[in-house]
Amino acid sequence: MTRHNSPSDRNRFATIAVGASEIKTNPHRDGTNDVVPPIHLSTTFEWASGEDTNEHDYSRESNPTRAALEEQLARLEGGEHGLAFASGMAATSTTMLSLVPSGGHIVSSDTIYSGTEKLLTEHMAEHLGVDIDFVDIRDPDDVADTVDADTALVWAETPSNPLIRLCDVQTIADIADDNDTLFAVDSTFGSPYYQTPLELGADIVVHSTTKYLNGHSDSIGGAVITDNDEVFQQLAFAQRVGLGNMLSPFDCYLVARGIRTLPARMEQHEKNAMAVAQFLESHDRVDRVHYPGLESYPQHDLASEQMSGYSGMLSFEFDGTLIELEAFIEGLDIFTPGASLGGVESLIEIPSLMLPDEFSRSEESADIPETLVRVSVGLEDADDLCEDLRTALP
Ligand SMILES: Cc1ncc(COP(=O)(O)O)c(C=O)c1O
Repeated sequence: MTRHNSPSDRNRFATIAVGASEIKTNPHRDGTNDVVPPIHLSTTFEWASGEDTNEHDYSRESNPTRAALEEQLARLEGGEHGLAFASGMAATSTTMLSLVPSGGHIVSSDTIYSGTEKLLTEHMAEHLGVDIDFVDIRDPDDVADTVDADTALVWAETPSNPLIRLCDVQTIADIADDNDTLFAVDSTFGSPYYQTPLELGADIVVHSTTKYLNGHSDSIGGAVITDNDEVFQQLAFAQRVGLGNMLSPFDCYLVARGIRTLPARMEQHEKNAMAVAQFLESHDRVDRVHYPGLESYPQHDLASEQMSGYSGMLSFEFDGTLIELEAFIEGLDIFTPGASLGGVESLIEIPSLMLPDEFSRSEESADIPETLVRVSVGLEDADDLCEDLRTALP
């Protein structure tokens, strides 16, 4: 399998993203000469009699628009199989529910998206009796000491939400392999443009396509990509039959449309994020900036090794009070305070103010500082972004 993470392979990635070579051979375009793959809204497909077989029968189980997106997602990650789900959480929950038996064991990173943490603690543990161990995923020894013969899944998010922590995917994949367990990586923050965990040995890659893959904050969706045929069969059954949580044709179209500009967007997200991170690092009311592209970042070397760029997400610790932080948010003109990330517009979130329930829960496991600010750096002019922050910071 070819790695596209080296700079010389970037053009190949862009070609896959644009889908140019697939336009002519796309089996889903039904003999038309569409340059843009169409949206197939039909829920059912005429039954073919005799020897003929239908590729699609019923849209929950398979749909041409979804099939085209799923194939493209697999190609972008350098994987065999792709599945598109109704949300990032649908992708995550389907992975966990399909692969972990009740009473089984999950080893999870302790800094993860709050929804995933809730799924683990409130559903998997409380309802299914799954034993969850949270570990500091930055430390492979912590993972090795916790994984055992009963572990069904190791779960990591890299870079993680909201502390932008990384895990060494290759080392943890080896640990999972040695213990005969599956390793899943939520790669939402990196996007397939900057990292391809399957090629580093992970078994499963999960995305919230709501973020960079769609990139325009107008579609909720999720994806799973895997090389493992058995895992694929189990997840495909859940997506198509057992749980029926597939992505709608219209959302598939929106994600596929977003993917065509993914490389260009990611390059600009990263440039802008670097400018914002450097500005924040030099500001005297900022204690620490969590951005893997900064040389001062403790995991900068790991990021440079396993990613081909540092993406557009960062967080920083404000030196001041929550009241000052609230005034800072109100003083912003370009950054919009709000949840989510990865869209063209810059968004800012203060977990302790904006997600108080999740903040109090996460605080226990992940020590998220009260004055942590998470920033999704968009595609506006970088000087304007820095100026907006400069004006609003006390
Ligand atoms: C890293 C990460 N994974 C998964 C999700 C869940 O995705 P969705 O909101 O599409 O269900 C999010 C949402 O913010 C996220 O940040």
